Amino acid sequence: MTQKKYALDDDLCLLKEALEKLLAWYLVSARDLPWRKTTDPYKIWISEIMLQQTRVEAVKEYYARFLGELPDIGSLADATEEQVLKLWEGLGYYSRARNLKKAAEVIVSEYDGVFPSRWEQIRKLPGIGDYTAGSISSIAFGLPYPAVDGNVLRVVSRLLNSFDDITEQKTKTKMTDMLKQVYPAQNCSEVTQSLMELGAIICIPNGQPKCEECPLQSLCRANCLGTVSELPVKKGKAKRKIQPKTVFLLQCGDEYAIQKREEKGLLYGMWQLPNCDGHWSVKEIRQQFFNSKSVKKLDFYRHIFTHIEWEMMGYHIIVEEKNSDYLWKTAEEIRENYAIPGAFRPFLKAMKT
Ligand code: ADE
Ligand code: SF4
Repeated sequence: MTQKKYALDDDLCLLKEALEKLLAWYLVSARDLPWRKTTDPYKIWISEIMLQQTRVEAVKEYYARFLGELPDIGSLADATEEQVLKLWEGLGYYSRARNLKKAAEVIVSEYDGVFPSRWEQIRKLPGIGDYTAGSISSIAFGLPYPAVDGNVLRVVSRLLNSFDDITEQKTKTKMTDMLKQVYPAQNCSEVTQSLMELGAIICIPNGQPKCEECPLQSLCRANCLGTVSELPVKKGKAKRKIQPKTVFLLQCGDEYAIQKREEKGLLYGMWQLPNCDGHWSVKEIRQQFFNSKSVKKLDFYRHIFTHIEWEMMGYHIIVEEKNSDYLWKTAEEIRENYAIPGAFRPFLKAMKT
């Protein structure tokens, strides 16, 4: 492992030069993405919140649908939480959706419905941390603030050959400060997005980065020193906890059972299919649902959250009577009106319409 210490000024010079190269590269090769066609801070905000933890391809459809139904801050502030969660269904991290609505209410009450344009004001809105404050400030308002997420930390670690642990806050703070010092006065929107773009399509997280196609190849210390595969360093990354689950798709006539999750914890307040911990055999299912007319095993599915992984078995169970612990709805009503997390989606597919 090569770990040479460079003076801070060297790092800053290198970063500055890299941002110039990245900008030139981005201007000719940026992907054509829906949120890059607008300067409306509302739309950029929605895209930035959706793009946290979620791939570009998955976001496109949600972005169009969300803005089709809630085209401006006022309509989002007036929407019900259920409506916003329904538009978010399957995207995960549902507190993002709840915070969007809360922030829209703040913008209406404190800023007359006009999106605030200073970093400090933006940073204070619900659901907006350093990353999103930086991305909205630079992309929507052209201000010189970097937006540092895992992709940018990876690019910077490799470029500078930094072995600092990127799961530590002090590394994030240091890299953000360094970028801030070398941000240009112009083209801040494009500079921010060029870093994201490089991390998304060239200096990629899993598998080999495409160093041969990279505009920073001649500058990149990790490429030069052969340390690319060792970087970035992520020591504090906890292993996910594995939880076995059994999901019940209970059907009575043409209705299915759903229930609301508890108001705290993972996926709080969302709707779900009844389920329990552990993996149940057909025999155990028949004992539990002794009046069932038929029990059919559904395909196994693994759902990955940030800190937890659900190993999900599922059964389609046809029952004679509706247990009043659940809400019973037709497939159509469920699809239209209830926000159910993506983890249950493979099992919902077995519903007949
Ligand atoms: N990830 C976060 N923000 C993005 C943007 N504006 N374009 C592409 N990917 C992104
Ligand atoms: Fe990443 Fe390779 Fe480019 Fe360095 S040269 S920034 S490691 S893609």
